[in-house]
Amino acid sequence: MGVQTPQDVQRVVDGLTDSSWAFSALVAAAEIGLLACLTPSCTPAEAAARAGVTDALAKALLDVLTSIGLANTQGNTYVAAPGLGEFLRTSPSDDILAWLRSNHFQSRQMVDAARRGQLQPGWIHTDPEILRAQGRTGRAAVHALASQVFPSVPGLQECLRSPGAAFLDVGCGVGIISIEMCRIYPHLSVVGLEPGEVQAAEAARNIAEAGFEERIEVRPQRLESLTDRDAFDLAYVPQVVMPIAAVTSGLPRVRDALHAGGWVLVVAISVPGNDLHAATTRLLNVMWGGSPLLAHEVVEMTKAAGFESVQVGGAPGSLLKAILGRRPL
Ligand SMILES: C[S@@+](CC[C@H](N)C(=O)[O-])C[C@H]1O[C@@H](n2cnc3c(N)ncnc32)[C@H](O)[C@@H]1O
Repeated sequence: MGVQTPQDVQRVVDGLTDSSWAFSALVAAAEIGLLACLTPSCTPAEAAARAGVTDALAKALLDVLTSIGLANTQGNTYVAAPGLGEFLRTSPSDDILAWLRSNHFQSRQMVDAARRGQLQPGWIHTDPEILRAQGRTGRAAVHALASQVFPSVPGLQECLRSPGAAFLDVGCGVGIISIEMCRIYPHLSVVGLEPGEVQAAEAARNIAEAGFEERIEVRPQRLESLTDRDAFDLAYVPQVVMPIAAVTSGLPRVRDALHAGGWVLVVAISVPGNDLHAATTRLLNVMWGGSPLLAHEVVEMTKAAGFESVQVGGAPGSLLKAILGRRPL
């Protein structure tokens, strides 16, 4: 099969155009509260009244949600598909919005940068909306790690729950991972490294709002200049946003900054293969400023930096693969 004729090109692009509009419709529906109208059910007129749009627009958006399987119709009534109903019940609406916004903003920003002749890789965002949305996606990720990944690592949870526990959050951005870790582990103190001024300022605001000024220190420092010794129980290294040289020089520094027996958590998102999902994970990874390293390559890097008991985990359904390694005792 493949693309043999100009008509095939038209078909491929038309399909992508439909998907692009469907995603935008989903994000718009979440923004105006239309998703929430689907539980238990709504007519277009009821949805329109609640969401503050015209009846015709509410119906058009609901039809798109139905076409992609997120909603079902019963006569003139729309109802969330069972999976969406469950998803909306179990996920905070702010997390859902952050997830959708983050992808929407970043893909839009890639096109905007290309139009301005400024397309380049790197987590160089300074738009507070993008920073907040991406940061906020960290909330769900931390909870998934704490409930589904950390328990499989013998001793890690007990260590994080102990008085005096310390966490290093490399590239802490607007501070969401640091804040959520403090919420989950009440004895934890955190050092966040964040070279970006806009991110660090936003992190300071978020940390103050959460009341964690005494527990979270944000340093304007890069991983490559870390010199702490024997100070942390767990370090988070998002190598996906860093050039490979920064990661290879930084990982041994992280090892030395951990207590003997402390853990490093390195994340990977790139997946091998020629399918759309795999290619998209690598595009995202490169756009974030990282090298598109596969999980097994990150495992090798982590071992080469002197960590042992290196294992790959990850919350089911999550884009992130968690590579955990231990500083030898
Ligand atoms: C995806 S953002 C972090 C999101 C973060 N978890 C939050 O709550 O906002 C990645 C961050 O890593 C930072 N970063 C990039 N390279 C770095 C390096 N070499 N050392 C430390 N931080 C770095 C960037 O400035 C950026 O803010």
